[in-house]
Parts: sequence; C-alpha cells; structure tokens
Amino acid sequence: MKKRYLVGNLKMNLNSVSETEHYLVALKKELFGKRIENVEIVVAPSSIYLERFSRELPENVSLGAQDVFWEKEGSYTSQISTSMLNDVHAGFVVIGHSERRLYAHETDGEVGWKVRAALHENIRPILCVGETAEDRERGVAADIVSGQIVEAFRDVSPMMAERVVVAYEPRWAIGSDVIPESEDIFEMRIVIHRALAEAYGPSVADRIPVLYGGSVKESLLDRLCLEPRMDGVLVGRESLYPHELVRMARHIGGYGSTDSEVSDNNS
Ligand code: PGA
Repeated sequence: MKKRYLVGNLKMNLNSVSETEHYLVALKKELFGKRIENVEIVVAPSSIYLERFSRELPENVSLGAQDVFWEKEGSYTSQISTSMLNDVHAGFVVIGHSERRLYAHETDGEVGWKVRAALHENIRPILCVGETAEDRERGVAADIVSGQIVEAFRDVSPMMAERVVVAYEPRWAIGSDVIPESEDIFEMRIVIHRALAEAYGPSVADRIPVLYGGSVKESLLDRLCLEPRMDGVLVGRESLYPHELVRMARHIGGYGSTDSEVSDNNS
C-alpha cells in the first residue's frame, strides 16, 4: 500500500505550556501499543512550542512547523528561518496555508520562495493550494489551483519536487463544515497531477503525494480521502483531539475506524 500522510495543523491553539503538555501526554497514551503502518503522522504546533514538541513527541510522529521565512537570517522581525526549524528537528513545514494567504497576504511568489528555501535545507514543504468560493462560482477553480502549483514549483528540480507534499484545501471548506463531493476532490487531484506532469513528467508527478484538507473528521474520511484516492489528509480542528488523530491515522492506514482493537501487539 502506498504511504499516506496525516498532518495535524494545530494552528493558534494549545495556548499555554500546560495545554501543550496535556496534549503531548494524551497523544503518547493514544499511540501506545497501536501499530500504525503506511501512515506518516505529522503534527504542526505553534512555533513557540516547537522545541517542546521536538523533545516530547512520540517517536512515530514527525514534527512540522506552520510557516518559515525564505531568507536565511537577518533583520526580519518575527520570522522563522529554516536553520531554526532544522535545529528543532522539524522535518516538515506547512507553506501557503490559506490563513497565511488571507491574513498575511502571502502571494504565490512568496509561497514559491518559501518552498525553495525549505527544500534547500532538507525540510519537506506541505504546500497548500486551493480556490475560494468565488473562484469556484466563476468556474476558474482549476486555473487558480494549477497557477498556484506552477508558481510554487518554479525552479524546483524534479528530484526536489518529489520531496513536496501538496495539500488541496478548498478555502470554503476550511473551518466551515461545508465539504466537497468526492468527485470534485478527485477532479482537482487530476488538475494538480496534470500541472505537475507538465512540469516534471508523469512518473515524478505520480510520486508527489496530494492530500485533502478542509473540515476533515474521522467519519468523513472515506468521502474526503479514500474515495477520491488522496494520499492523506491535512486536519485542523479535529487534530486538537489526540484520540481523533490516532483514529484517523488508523482509518487511512487501513486498520478500520473502530477502537475495538486496542493493542495490535497481541495479534
Ligand atoms: P479544519 O482546518 O480541519 O479545521 O477545517 C483545515 C486546515 O486549515 O488545514
């Protein structure tokens, strides 16, 4: 089975050291004794807690950051460099999330700079792309998403491109509980694959994972991930519950969605 990804974007939540501690303890407990194969779990906390997560995350969970800056160092107040991320062993970084594009007015060009900066320092970008509700109404969703892909992968070599994880997140589905049909997700998967295949050829495009994000919860995984043949999911709100995070990982990893199998060690 092809490896899948479950990315938990904790956003600006877990607003204290004690909440962070509770989360980490609960995550460890939920993962204990459970075999999770074929799924890479990535958790992306606020940057202020990256170091703590780095020390305390369970071994089978990777650390992600929520953003990075393209310059290596210098007078860039509030920004976070790739070296800082490497220092705390963050193997992944979310880039171009719609909330960054919306509140920080991040452009496709800047997203591309960040992707290249991360790849250069061996950090895997989780590149977010997606259209707004108006784009969809105007019938330009596919153009918008392919345009975002083209800009983000500009000047990225085929070898480096394979290190990128793409997350298709229709903006109108994020934090909203309005979700697309499986067919619409699958269609966008094809759009993304086509844009990547034009740049790198089909076999490289095949190797670039494409996730779905936007109002994901365990009960919707068939519709949002498995039926449209996505390589995993990017989860916001539900990732704040370690129990749900682990259930989702097991579901997309092919272990079914129930909790009945508490430990696989005895099987
Ligand atoms: P949500 O967020 O799961 O809360 O909709 C998804 C995201 O922002 O990536």
